[in-house]
Amino acid sequence: MSRERVTPYHFIKAKREGRKLVMVTAYEYFQARLADEAGVDGILVGDSLGMVVMGYPSTIPVTFGQVAHHLKAVLSARPRALVVADMPFLTYEVSRGEAVRNAGRYLKAGADAVKVEGGVEILDKVEAMVKAGIPVMGHVGLNPQRYLVHGLRLRGKTAEDALKVYEDAKALEEAGVFSVVIEFTTAEVAAEVTKALKVPTICIGAGSACDGQILVFHDLVGLNPTPPPFVKKYAEGFEVFRNALKTYVEEVRSGVFPDERHYFRIAPEELARFRELLERRRAPRPSP
Ligand code: KIV
Repeated sequence: MSRERVTPYHFIKAKREGRKLVMVTAYEYFQARLADEAGVDGILVGDSLGMVVMGYPSTIPVTFGQVAHHLKAVLSARPRALVVADMPFLTYEVSRGEAVRNAGRYLKAGADAVKVEGGVEILDKVEAMVKAGIPVMGHVGLNPQRYLVHGLRLRGKTAEDALKVYEDAKALEEAGVFSVVIEFTTAEVAAEVTKALKVPTICIGAGSACDGQILVFHDLVGLNPTPPPFVKKYAEGFEVFRNALKTYVEEVRSGVFPDERHYFRIAPEELARFRELLERRRAPRPSP
């Protein structure tokens, strides 16, 4: 695999050439290395870190600083993949200036692009970021940052809702995004959006007609025992790690670990000298 870094331009080119794009989330150095060595096109430092790293019930409490912290860890892996920083709730909605400044801070920290949730309601912010030279990935369909208002329901089940998803995606493309995530949306609607856009659609729980797919790392490797219904687990990570930890606990308690392979010995002559030094140290000192 070539070491040429993936850029937003490569995403658009992949769509033109009919090549599927593959993304995964990652939040730390080894996850980024695993993803990159597996050959993904893009890594999202997702605000899903709220749930899968911090154990929060939603993405709402995630801060600018938390994404910045995990972005740094991911960038330490120097991935070939495009690195996208997810903008947390209320870091881009308030004003165009705030959106540009915050997105710019992620770019200055080393991200290749940012992702924002929403459609027509955030168009002016998206336009401002793109005008400032910031590559932006959109995110339509289910927007977890807005779940308090809209819930976590499947999108595109009615003709009206399908049209709303479609119009959001089209408006984002016009505003200059280089790709659009479509989350938890009926497959037919995601397929129509994919057909209508020149920029690639990256889907999660929205069918197979999209230009690419994205999954959350912990869901994909089975570290999250209760993933969303659209996830395919490619490993039983929770079982594998729990069994490893259980065996470790048993082996320490029974004296099996550590054995000769896991520790190091002092040379016999140094050991003899050490014991001599100990003897001398322990011998009572003559009183003055
Ligand atoms: O934060 C995240 O992980 C995401 C993906 C679900 C697309 O936004």
